Amino acid sequence: MSAPLDASGLGALVAQASAAIASSATLSALDELATTLRAKDAPLLLARRSLGEITDEAERKATGARVGEAMEAVNAALAARRSDLEAIERRAQLERDALDLTEVVVDQVRVPVRRGSLHLVTQTRAALEDVFVGMGFEVAEGPEVETDWYNFEALNIPPGHPARDMYDTMYLDLGLPETALLRTHTSPTQIHLLEKAVAEGTLPVHAVMPGRCYRLDTPDARHLPVFHQIEGLVVDKGITFGDLAGVIETFTAAYFGPDIHSRLRPAYFPFTEPSAEFEITCTICRGEGCRTCSRTGWIELGGCGMVDPAVFEAVGIDPAEYSGFAFGFGIDRCAQMRHGIADMRALIENDLRFARQF
Ligand code: PHE
Repeated sequence: MSAPLDASGLGALVAQASAAIASSATLSALDELATTLRAKDAPLLLARRSLGEITDEAERKATGARVGEAMEAVNAALAARRSDLEAIERRAQLERDALDLTEVVVDQVRVPVRRGSLHLVTQTRAALEDVFVGMGFEVAEGPEVETDWYNFEALNIPPGHPARDMYDTMYLDLGLPETALLRTHTSPTQIHLLEKAVAEGTLPVHAVMPGRCYRLDTPDARHLPVFHQIEGLVVDKGITFGDLAGVIETFTAAYFGPDIHSRLRPAYFPFTEPSAEFEITCTICRGEGCRTCSRTGWIELGGCGMVDPAVFEAVGIDPAEYSGFAFGFGIDRCAQMRHGIADMRALIENDLRFARQF
């Protein structure tokens, strides 16, 4: 078979080969095609072999140059297609190897993936903050590691004061000149806030201060050694005990519902004077009297009172000019009362059957 040696015949061969090259979909198909195109009986090779039959030298040279160009064009097309196919195959390989962490193979998953939720104490803290923010309070936070000054002395609890007995805690050796400890209540945040307000001249203060507290208590149905409190502090001109009682009652009805009320019973705290214990209607028996409330119909939630003048003096506020009230109560206890949780230890046991109910 004699091969076409004119320009259009060679062009047609190149076009044919290029089309075949472009349509080969894999590297191995391309390899096979390359072998065919370079075989002894391939049209272009036949064309090259037939050059010797051309007797006119000039014509032989010109034709040889055309055949050479055609062969180069085919080789270039092969090389280009090869590099395209290599890139495509590399990408496919990467996709095969990639680990899709979001992939859920539906029929392999027997337990549906559940959506998590916030811990009940976190939810309770947020709900309490909402109630107080609605009443015009700001939310502030203080450190969990305190010095003796903030946790005790500035709160009118000097060294050796018997009130220290109910606030035993972990003491930390931080190599500081001052004693460092895990705070036993959120009341030290009152001091931080008042110091800041005095320094910046931003009195009055209306704030709630939630956070974690620590005491060397053995866990039982109503106590945890790591627990949460929310502190309240209002310092302004002309604040009275009536304001305190009104805030406590408004909060109680807003958070626990209109049929739950508050009462204040005389108590003692070194940093408030007068002081009171803040109790609410027992949410288990609704005031009838039951085992949880020791048949009194009331449950203690926290302490409160009018800011003691000694506290004002410790932070440099004139007690003749300003007055205020403070309160502090347990967030865990609120969760317990609102959800009827018999034993507070359930809050830290991480039993999912318990946790998932909220
Ligand atoms: N800090 C007190 C406690 O934890 C509670 C309290 C706060 C009492 C504010 C009065 C005023 O026992």
